[in-house]
Amino acid sequence: MPGMRSLWQLSGQILRKQKPSVVSDYSYFVNDLAKGRKPSPLRELMKMLATASSDIIFLAEGLPHGDTHPFNEARFSLKDGSHITLSGKTLTSALQYGPTEGYPQLLQRLREFQERFHNPPGLDDRDIIATVGAQDGLCKMIELCMDFGDPVVVPAPTYSGVLAMLRPYRPEFLSVKEDKYGMCPYKLRDELNRYWSISHNSMLKPPKFLYLNPTASNPSGTVMPIERKKEIYEVASDFNLLILEDDPYYFLHFDDKEPQSFLSIDTEGRVIRFDSFSKVFSSGLRLGFITGPRPLMQVVEYHMQASVLHTSSLSQVIALKLLDQLGWDGFIKYMENIREFYMKRRNFMSEVAKKHLQGKAEWTMPDGGMFLWIKVNGVPDVYDMVMKRGVHGKGVMFVPGHAFMPDPTLPCPYIRASYSLAPLEDMDQGFARLAELITEEKKLHLK
Ligand SMILES: Cc1ncc(COP(=O)(O)O)c(C=O)c1O
Repeated sequence: MPGMRSLWQLSGQILRKQKPSVVSDYSYFVNDLAKGRKPSPLRELMKMLATASSDIIFLAEGLPHGDTHPFNEARFSLKDGSHITLSGKTLTSALQYGPTEGYPQLLQRLREFQERFHNPPGLDDRDIIATVGAQDGLCKMIELCMDFGDPVVVPAPTYSGVLAMLRPYRPEFLSVKEDKYGMCPYKLRDELNRYWSISHNSMLKPPKFLYLNPTASNPSGTVMPIERKKEIYEVASDFNLLILEDDPYYFLHFDDKEPQSFLSIDTEGRVIRFDSFSKVFSSGLRLGFITGPRPLMQVVEYHMQASVLHTSSLSQVIALKLLDQLGWDGFIKYMENIREFYMKRRNFMSEVAKKHLQGKAEWTMPDGGMFLWIKVNGVPDVYDMVMKRGVHGKGVMFVPGHAFMPDPTLPCPYIRASYSLAPLEDMDQGFARLAELITEEKKLHLK
């Protein structure tokens, strides 16, 4: 009997010959636990209520009565002088349970959003779900795919929040190094070929997905150009991988126009995209959205029906009203301002890095986002320097690069510095302290 590996390789070869290979069987990506999820009867009724005619007599759900809510009105004054006021029916529904997939009017706006910014092929065959930030969408998607010991493809370095989701599965990390444009396609292909060429194990499991954070990657700040995305997409297609496109910094690039996404080139239905309002409206809203092929989104929805029920109605209504108030042109202008805000901070941090770290460390100018990814020269492992002597001795805090490495036990010379929040004078002070730390650390190693 042929082993799993040879069967899968065979199907891989067939797929390669028949390109483009549209994904036809999503159950291949779904683990047994997720296959066991069934629609919740009460949540399905809630979905029906959202679209039912207004004269329906509703005796089904145990929704608390709006008259018992202690709030009469919620009023937000905006920094541009305008206001958002929630009252009456709108406030009542913002304070009430809602459909699992999201507040219907917001979902409609989000569909327009995807059409406007990504215009993916076959948007009608994709579903959108409002999630508790991008994080929860990612977590649900990963839980839907992974089995213990599965291989996963990630960039090196990788957003630590995703490593935290993956680690409990004790996966085999197929980690692919980044260069200044993000994950390298040829290294990705090499790594997948290497994995499949391990001949002593005929029961190798296929990796099911590839995780990427293509715009202003956390922590490296790289922005992946569309040419590279197309190459990576081709590799994903050859190896039948889903692409988890985690893109919360999509509007925080420092280019002239929005990057073209994986979603926008997804002719085969293999991209699941995670957007977020955290970095642009407010992270406390805990609001993001996941866009993907309907069969997979249905499993995510069933998971949410059993876990959070739905993302906060209040957060969704606030975001909806804000989007309505801004309009799409206003939204784009708003993003330009945010971009400019962070770009000034990026420039400032880059100046203080030049001032204090010349010769002591290396970094590339981030093309977006909130972070400077710094390689310390002559200190092969920065962990104790950052976590012990930095925090307790010098009173300065960075993230040691270990947090972003699939194997955090290996020595790592990188640190992540964030320019998003600290006052500018603190950045200068912080980098002066880092320079001292590096000098002292090198002396310590010479002893
Ligand atoms: C790459 C990346 N993905 C996801 C998240 C989580 O975002 P959210 O607040 O939307 O859950 C973050 C937050 O820092 C992030 O940097």
